[in-house]
Amino acid sequence: MELKVANIGMKFGMCHVEGAMSFGAPIEAICDSNEENLRFAGERYSIPEEKRFLDYNDLLNNKEINAVTVAIPDQLHKKVSCDFLRAGKNVLCEKPLALTREDVEEIVRVADESEAKFMVGQICRFTPAFEKAKELVESGVIGELYFIESEYAHDYMKLCDDWRADPNRHGVIGGGCHAVDLIRWIAGDPQEVFAYGTHKLLPQVPYNDATIAVMKFGENVAGKVFVSTGCKRDYTMRTVIYGTKGTIICDNTSPTMTLFTVDEEGVTKEPQTIEVEVNNHNAAREFEVFADAILNDKPVLTDAREGAKTVAVCLAIVESSTTGKPVKPDYTF
Ligand SMILES: NC(=O)c1ccc[n+]([C@@H]2O[C@H](COP(=O)([O-])OP(=O)(O)OC[C@H]3O[C@@H](n4cnc5c(N)ncnc54)[C@H](O)[C@@H]3O)[C@@H](O)[C@H]2O)c1
Repeated sequence: MELKVANIGMKFGMCHVEGAMSFGAPIEAICDSNEENLRFAGERYSIPEEKRFLDYNDLLNNKEINAVTVAIPDQLHKKVSCDFLRAGKNVLCEKPLALTREDVEEIVRVADESEAKFMVGQICRFTPAFEKAKELVESGVIGELYFIESEYAHDYMKLCDDWRADPNRHGVIGGGCHAVDLIRWIAGDPQEVFAYGTHKLLPQVPYNDATIAVMKFGENVAGKVFVSTGCKRDYTMRTVIYGTKGTIICDNTSPTMTLFTVDEEGVTKEPQTIEVEVNNHNAAREFEVFADAILNDKPVLTDAREGAKTVAVCLAIVESSTTGKPVKPDYTF
């Protein structure tokens, strides 16, 4: 079987075209409802005009296509992904899975009913520094995990004049889902969260532009996520993972990460610097994993339920910052 791909959404979604191309999968169609964006991408990737579409509905019954990537506004993920799943196409959809409980529940249900694979693009799981951090934690080199923190700091000053200003597209869900998903991947599901928010930098959005959430995991582990979508600094997802025998400090934009370990007496040794590739949108690896699941009928690591659980934590954080009360994320999907 050969993968034949349709890519929906030609802004950030162009990285999915590149991911599919680097895998060697033919691009059967690109689609964008904006003519100019469609033309730009078509010319950039030399996609012939007959393979450029303004309406994704024209692709649902296209028998040639068996894999679809979806990179359109978050509010549309549910409708477009579910339409393709119902048409029997394998779908890789951008994060966050969706913005509301109702929408994530529906995607989980439709993905369960479909024979096709569904993957949500939680890209941090393919970021070299984070892959290395996960490998180090699992190797036991830092002992037992007791605290994990990650942040999503990204200046949205020029990025919040459209669908990102929707009240449901809170920064914790839209961008913070990266940090939440990363710590879920490494430390498991938080049982309870408590959050505060502030709103000083982006008056044009109807939600807090900075949020800090602390969380309690099982087995004596705590965590923290900080999200700032108005911050005045370079984009980063600084992450620190504390274990009983060591500490890992890493992010998604630096060429090195730091590993602290201890000597036989438990005293902290000189830190080791580990070189890593800087590739915080590792679309090639993401597409490779998507393709592997389809071609070899493997389970998808970030399936609809995983994406839904990450959204559940984000929704709990937003709720806690609004009510001032701790909230237990609802993982019943
Ligand atoms: N993984 C990441 O780090 C990352 C980074 C940026 C964006 N994203 C996600 O990617 C998605 C797209 O974000 P973006 O920055 O490209 O947004 P954008 O608003 O810049 O572009 C969206 C594109 O989708 C097109 N579009 C809208 N509705 C459509 C429809 N019904 N059919 C076809 N095309 C349609 C628009 O014309 C536009 O070209 C979002 O879900 C976003 O959260 C992920």
